[in-house]
Amino acid sequence: LLLLLLLLLLLLGFVNVSFLHASFPPSLIEDMAKIVMDNYCSPEKLVGMKEDIAAASNNTEVLSIPDGESLANILSSGVQTTVSDPRVKVSYEPNYVPVVHPEMPNLPAEQLVAVLQTSIKLDLLEGNIGYMRIDHILGEEVADKVGPLLVDLVWNKILPTSALIFDLRYTSSGDLSGIPYIVSYFTEAEPVIHIDSIYDRPSNTTTKLLSMSTLLGERYSVSKPLIILTSKNTKGIAEDVAYCLQNLKRATVVGEKTAGGSVKIDKFKVGDTDFYVTLPTAKSINPITGSTWELTGVSPDVEVDAEDALATAIRIINLRAQVPAIIEESASLIANNYAFESIGADVAEKLRELQANGEFSTVVCKEGLETKLSADLQTLSGDKSLKTTTNTPALPPMEYSPEMYIELIKISFHTDVFENNIGYLRFDMFGDFEEVKPIAQIIVEHVWNKVVNTDAMIVDLRNNLGGPTTAIAGFCSYFFDGDKQIVLDKLYDRPSGVTTELLTLPELTGVRYGSKKSLIILTSKATAGAAEEFVYIMKKLGRAMIVGETTAGASHPPKVFPVGETNVFLSIPTVHSDTSTGPAWEGVGITPHIPAAADAALEVAKGIFNKHLGGQQ
Ligand SMILES: *[C@@H]1O[C@H](CO)[C@@H](O)[C@H](O)[C@H]1NC(C)=O
Ligand SMILES: *[C@@H]1O[C@H](CO)[C@@H](O)[C@H](O)[C@H]1NC(C)=O
Repeated sequence: LLLLLLLLLLLLGFVNVSFLHASFPPSLIEDMAKIVMDNYCSPEKLVGMKEDIAAASNNTEVLSIPDGESLANILSSGVQTTVSDPRVKVSYEPNYVPVVHPEMPNLPAEQLVAVLQTSIKLDLLEGNIGYMRIDHILGEEVADKVGPLLVDLVWNKILPTSALIFDLRYTSSGDLSGIPYIVSYFTEAEPVIHIDSIYDRPSNTTTKLLSMSTLLGERYSVSKPLIILTSKNTKGIAEDVAYCLQNLKRATVVGEKTAGGSVKIDKFKVGDTDFYVTLPTAKSINPITGSTWELTGVSPDVEVDAEDALATAIRIINLRAQVPAIIEESASLIANNYAFESIGADVAEKLRELQANGEFSTVVCKEGLETKLSADLQTLSGDKSLKTTTNTPALPPMEYSPEMYIELIKISFHTDVFENNIGYLRFDMFGDFEEVKPIAQIIVEHVWNKVVNTDAMIVDLRNNLGGPTTAIAGFCSYFFDGDKQIVLDKLYDRPSGVTTELLTLPELTGVRYGSKKSLIILTSKATAGAAEEFVYIMKKLGRAMIVGETTAGASHPPKVFPVGETNVFLSIPTVHSDTSTGPAWEGVGITPHIPAAADAALEVAKGIFNKHLGGQQ
């Protein structure tokens, strides 16, 4: 229908200048349409075309266009629009001489060598990286003839390399029968793999392309990296090779999106005229994706300008060369330092397995490696704190004036005194003991003294994300009495193997709240790390009632370890609360005594205290 409309519309423009006699045979359009109908690779797109043609071919006015080239252009755009395919072309070529593909002449060996050397470029790059550029993909017949020479001159030089860059940026021609050959040199002999399916329209048959179990020469080991370079000029068979190896997860494609050509383009003469129809007569359907690169092109795994593709490929290969050492070093660090020894050993072993199974062999950049390693570590351990991290050097300590400290403390802590003399204290981060010590007096004056003389207290940790645990013993101590020391927790430090007791401090700045007055701690699922350790201790010792949600289940603050000499860093929790029955709260969180949604927890806590304290009056 589109074809018809287009022809009619175009005709309108020509009516005024139309010559009254037809310059071209009336059968032209019908003959052309028949060629398309019988040969175009996607017959499903031609539904309805038959009727359009019949109608259009009655309309001979278009044929009165005197100039063949103009008519060919009109017909071209008509057909292209009908099938939505710019690969279909109509041309007018009175002087066209069909290219006859001659049989491969029996050239003497020296001449064959010369031919191969001009069409195949070979190089050995630093780091034992092979480079091979092939601008025309040979078919089976030619490959059979030059095979031994190819193996000898080219392939045997590639085989000992530890990675290969296969440059298809300039490859725009090739023969379908060459696909199984090339692909098979990069796959294993067994099992035979279904590489591609080719539907051939003229014969209306689909052929499966299978990998070959016997080949001349050796295969390139599947454990070695293969990078294919592409450009927007990579076309046809080369696109198929890139797409097949990409989807078999054998190659990483680096460069530009390819042309979106065809596995087979043929040219047909229309009847006795000088018009020709060029169109794709076969199409590839990839068995893995069920789809094709034709028309759309192959999307590279790493998209860069064609001119930058080689340098990018070299970077990828160099990164991949480091991966085994990075994974091994990571596994050792985790096995030797992770807080829970048996989990650490298990994670290390499974990480090594992932590496052995080639799970990291497709990384293309350091960030990608870190993201994958992080995700794997968290999956294997169930610990969100075991991950890769960036090593941001600690900022030099700020020089604060006493006034600035006071301001800082005022915004870091929130206090209030509610009805019935109920104190409220909120802070969202634990500080380091050594950093808190010099300003303890200021905190006592501006924060603690506002709530210390209350009858009961609510400590709000719903937004407390943790921080260092060094100040926890000190903070806990305010809620116990000074006359006897209490063991708050036992902390096992994996790297040193030492278990330390966490004790209340005998001396504190300011006045204690003491052990008698009621205390409620508010939690949410965001309450994490050091805050969980505090909640855990106060719950375990029966010193506080916990109201809110189960806490995050994070861990004691992790330490940062550099992975070898690389720029990769691991965050590894190294300390855990020591219980005889496994993890205390790490990974699982602490359940509240009184469950309440985080945003309702404060009202619940006030209600409990009001009932209790209000009732006493
Ligand atoms: C084409 O023209 C012939 C003869 O003039 C007529 O019989 C036929 O119905 C026409 N076909 C269409 C599709 O218009
Ligand atoms: C192609 O062959 C199938 C059967 O294999 C048949 O159903 C279909 O009609 C044929 N298509 C054409 C265009 O001949």
